[in-house]
Amino acid sequence: MCGITGYIGGDKTTEVLLDGLRRLEYRGYDSCGIAVVDGKNSLYLKRVSGRVDALDKLVSAEPVKGAKAGVGHTRWATHGAPSEDNAHPHTDCSGEVVVVHNGIIENYLELKEKLLAGGHKFKSETDTEVIAHLLEEKLKSLHVQAAAMRSDMLEPVFFEAFRRTVADLKGSFALAVVWARCPAMILAARLHSPLVVGLGQGENYVASDVSAFLKYTKRVVFLNDGEMAAVRRDGVDYYNFAGKKISRDSVVIQWDSTMAEKGGYKHFMLKEIHEQAEAVENTLRGRLLPLGGPALEQEMGLTTAAMKAFSAVQFVACGTAYHACLVGRVLFENFGVHASADWASEFTDRARLLDKGTLVVAISQSGETADTLFAVREAKAAGAKVLAITNTVGSTLTREADHVLYTHCGPEIGVASTKAFLGQLAALYLLAGHFAAARGSLGKTDARRYAEELLKVPRLIEEILAQEKEIARVAQAFSHSEHFLFISRHVNYPIALEGALKIKEISYVHAEGYAAGEMKHGPIAIIYKGMPVLAVATSGRALELTAGNVEEAKARGADVVAIVDQDSKKTVKASRYVVLPRTEELFTPMLTVIPLQIFAYYVALAKKCDIDKPRNLAKSVTVR
Ligand code: G6P
Repeated sequence: MCGITGYIGGDKTTEVLLDGLRRLEYRGYDSCGIAVVDGKNSLYLKRVSGRVDALDKLVSAEPVKGAKAGVGHTRWATHGAPSEDNAHPHTDCSGEVVVVHNGIIENYLELKEKLLAGGHKFKSETDTEVIAHLLEEKLKSLHVQAAAMRSDMLEPVFFEAFRRTVADLKGSFALAVVWARCPAMILAARLHSPLVVGLGQGENYVASDVSAFLKYTKRVVFLNDGEMAAVRRDGVDYYNFAGKKISRDSVVIQWDSTMAEKGGYKHFMLKEIHEQAEAVENTLRGRLLPLGGPALEQEMGLTTAAMKAFSAVQFVACGTAYHACLVGRVLFENFGVHASADWASEFTDRARLLDKGTLVVAISQSGETADTLFAVREAKAAGAKVLAITNTVGSTLTREADHVLYTHCGPEIGVASTKAFLGQLAALYLLAGHFAAARGSLGKTDARRYAEELLKVPRLIEEILAQEKEIARVAQAFSHSEHFLFISRHVNYPIALEGALKIKEISYVHAEGYAAGEMKHGPIAIIYKGMPVLAVATSGRALELTAGNVEEAKARGADVVAIVDQDSKKTVKASRYVVLPRTEELFTPMLTVIPLQIFAYYVALAKKCDIDKPRNLAKSVTVR
């Protein structure tokens, strides 16, 4: 979380930095700032507590001339409240060194004590500020007669001081640093927090995410942990933390910058809800037929023999991706494979118990979630093989996992995940189908039916999206409710959890997702007259029991909205219905979640909440 952007070269420094910050706001948005070196080698620093629009106003009121290099940051507070003082960039005592940082410096207190004893004055409560002072200290220790030296002669000194600073830091960091006396070079370093260099013509970029500069260049180099970059106008040099030069190849990103624009929708979330049929189609394309055939296996690097050999599958993830894991568990169990699912943050002790016959499947939209990466490292240390399901090419997860299965959803900007979830589900149906075919639990005819049913899903999603207005009306009717309960069973139980999570994330009201059968063991006590209960009750083996649970809720005064299909509608007695097209029970989660996303969106809209940037949240959570 937090977003870094840096630029060197042309005349559009502040424009690029502000534009990048706007695109990175999904990573955190409680405060932000930029620092640029102007034509006279002095630093221009502007920070605000609040959003990039406020920063833009401040910068426009006092434009800076001749800026050729600078860095920017949008923050999600960890150390110190969201305030202007704690906003990045941070400076040293001289005001000439500026630092932007993502991650956490674990030994910052120890470093700060020493620096305070050495006479440094701190202006913020952040861990980041120690980096600026430490760098100042290292520059001093190299006895720089800076005033007497030409700025190009200072480059090796700046680099060495930065290298020594980085060597003293413990924890996780992505850093971009500017020194006013040496304005032709931005230095960057990465350890456990993403950082990517963008390569232009006579100008170069650095950012925590490609979306910051995708408008200007698609040629990028993803830094690995333990790597540094010296970014100059005409080129970029790469080093390891020992200071040894290394060579790095660039890759070309396929995403288009317009994919990250709203395209006429009021919010990214609504746009992304509407992109879900396409997201499923893109994830399935070319990978489905023949199920059990070589294409997907080659792509993942998992052979039929390997798929046969695993005795169990263990899913790990966070947030919405964890709900995809719960659906994955049901799919694999449906085909007779032992499967379990855990939140990555609760996985630590279980990782040690993994046996080598278990395939760990880590699901992450961003591929950068710290808890998920940590779980993956623990699993690998225990000797397990890891398959990543992710939407982000070049992310840390793809580099640490043994096998990768990409979802092809395009960028997801709304903090509350929607289309990425559908992509994850589609990938899981692919994976489960391929496993089942490899292990002989899905014969040729059944495999064809499975594939046909999956291929129908995008069209069925479109049919549900066409009901947006009716679902919006239901949501409006409940928009003043303080509590929501979501219930379902079996393969749709994770969808009840996801429905509740969506409401919590973007409307800030209490919502609970519960297994319908478990409701009578506790949560039924909270039901009061008029309380909205959303029950997912489509046709299948759980229907009769879920319909019974709906009766129990109604008997306590609940106002029930039932998510049904034409057939199950006859069995479930509710005050309102959303009627979905029919599909086989196993495939219903890809449909039932859609009305719940739309419902959550319209509750939040009625409450006038900031839907794409909900309070306290960030899209990519890179702290544990
Ligand atoms: C954050 C986001 C959630 C997301 C979760 C996992 O909490 O707000 O929307 O589901 O992280 O993110 P990942 O990128 O690993 O899927």
